[in-house]
Amino acid sequence: MKPRAVADTDLVRACCRQPVSRTPVWFMRQAGRSLPEYRAARGEGSILSAIGDAALAAELTLQPVRRYGVDAAILFSDIVVPVHAIGFGVDVEPGRGPVVASPFRSAHDLERLRPLEPEADVPYVAEAVRLVSKELDGSGVALIGFAGAPFTVASYLIEGGPSRTFTLVKSLMHSDPDLWDLLMARLVALAVASLRSQIQAGVQVVQLFDSWAGALSPGEYARFVLPATRAVFEGIADLGVPTILFGVGTGELLGLMGTAGSDVVGVDWRVPLHEARARIGPGHAVQGNLDPALCVGPWPMVERATRAVLSSGKADGSGTGHVFNLGHGVLPESDVGILGAVVDLVHAESTEE
Ligand code: CP3
Repeated sequence: MKPRAVADTDLVRACCRQPVSRTPVWFMRQAGRSLPEYRAARGEGSILSAIGDAALAAELTLQPVRRYGVDAAILFSDIVVPVHAIGFGVDVEPGRGPVVASPFRSAHDLERLRPLEPEADVPYVAEAVRLVSKELDGSGVALIGFAGAPFTVASYLIEGGPSRTFTLVKSLMHSDPDLWDLLMARLVALAVASLRSQIQAGVQVVQLFDSWAGALSPGEYARFVLPATRAVFEGIADLGVPTILFGVGTGELLGLMGTAGSDVVGVDWRVPLHEARARIGPGHAVQGNLDPALCVGPWPMVERATRAVLSSGKADGSGTGHVFNLGHGVLPESDVGILGAVVDLVHAESTEE
């Protein structure tokens, strides 16, 4: 058994499948362009400069907690922050996502992926964690840290930007599996170093985003991705913080994801939670999975869908082990009033009388 963090929030308790006072709820991408106060505070410029300003990052982290009354804040940062900080040459283009000037092509490029020294390379991350923790102390709201999973980060480094087909990534993994394994090892080390420093600075739960894993077949996932994902969870297990593994379009991968070593598996909107639990296997909590496209409204439709997620999430009968979330990130055009109403409904429906 790995040591456990003090279970003092509903989020931590739900991740560990312990009884909760009410089902905890937060939203992936809850900070960001759907919030008017985000647009006002963030200003122009690269998101990487906003992330590099610890006081601003702390403020952007807390905005959705104030606005929605969610049970968790997620640190305002990005999955490409470590590779950016060690000088790989990554930027984040507004409306597009991460772009790489000189993509990963050969063994020479491994040298561009030196180890991360969090205190020297990303001092603003731990500083933002400390600022947010101070604000949240005693509130019952948890702070979530995160990292990009090795596969999803590799996809940006190799493709040079967002991709639909992952042609270059698949070509590299199949044609040069030794180089692929060396690349994965470097990215495991970056994720572990980043997560360890966030945990040591005070985050209470961590999520590993393998957002694009759904592009892979089960065979590809098992051979090329699962070992690295497992190594990330092994690398932080001694710290005793609950962990969440999330990807989109992973219906056929949920059984394998259940063997990666996380406490919670995140599920997108394509698989109902009771079915996802059966595929993931025993011993895990689930997170999800309201369709973000529905949160544009109208309310009666969102209300029905929210109740359906709550009832599917309760499928093991105990009502424990469910973290309510969307199936993927908040869409920029989402109605903030509707998202707040979802939080209220989840809390009201799951409170024991
Ligand atoms: O509330 C939060 O979730 C805030 C923290 C956060 C951001 N990125 C801030 C951000 C988190 C957890 C991420 C993770 C992230 N970044 C992922 C995994 C989550 C997922 O959605 O699957 C991925 C794949 C990235 C890479 C990335 N960064 C993309 C695809 C984009 C979107 C591009 C766009 O503009 O549509 C970004 C930019 C980004 N990261 C924004 C935010 C709020 C929006 C742009 C901005 O405000 O400049």
